[in-house]
Amino acid sequence: MTTPIIAPSILAADFANIQREVEMLNNSEADWIHVDIMDGIFVPNISFGIPVTQAIHEHANKPLDVHLMIEKPENYVQAFKKAGAEIITVHYEACPHLHRNIQQIKDLGCKAGVALNPHTNVQLLEDVIQDIDMVCIMSVNPGFGGQKFIENTYKKVRQLKEIISDAGATTLIEIDGGVNQDNAKDLLDAGADVLVAGSFVFSSEDPINTISKLKTV
Ligand code: DX5
Ligand code: ZN
Repeated sequence: MTTPIIAPSILAADFANIQREVEMLNNSEADWIHVDIMDGIFVPNISFGIPVTQAIHEHANKPLDVHLMIEKPENYVQAFKKAGAEIITVHYEACPHLHRNIQQIKDLGCKAGVALNPHTNVQLLEDVIQDIDMVCIMSVNPGFGGQKFIENTYKKVRQLKEIISDAGATTLIEIDGGVNQDNAKDLLDAGADVLVAGSFVFSSEDPINTISKLKTV
């Protein structure tokens, strides 16, 4: 097991004090900042968009890992790259032309991720696994922070790890939703590389310490 990449989800931060929250992450052992974009169509919730992402980027000294829970992501990836995204993840379920979407993200100079809803089988990514930098396995149904972790995720991580190693690929596995101190180690043992954590980090008394604990779980 290697040291995990920790990506706190800014969705759970205090938006009235976004600069302070980003500076807290700058001073922590967080590796990336996970930025959740929700359009109210692909998912039943609206979060925030391009200007807020840009404001986060202006204060951040860590890469922005932008998770697009939106329909027609091809219309917006360029704007998110301009707003500071370094990694852009689109949903398999929102992309009938997924290969094209991946190429578009890479042509912009970003790393490309594909997210899978809890019901979506990891085998569906076999034919693009060489082309993508990261797979985000949703361990809750996308749309809200603070939900309960879905246990079937472990099986998906193990299956995906096998697909990646069979292909000789270097694709990272990210887990998003309900991640905490109790499931982090098992996720890493199953093959996860990146842990997203929102409410577990921001609702804790000492988020900097909580991030350190996840890093060394
Ligand atoms: C869910 C989002 C997640 C969420 C994670 O739709 O994609 O990134 O912010 O939050 P927690 O860790 O609270 O489940
Ligand atoms: Zn997310």
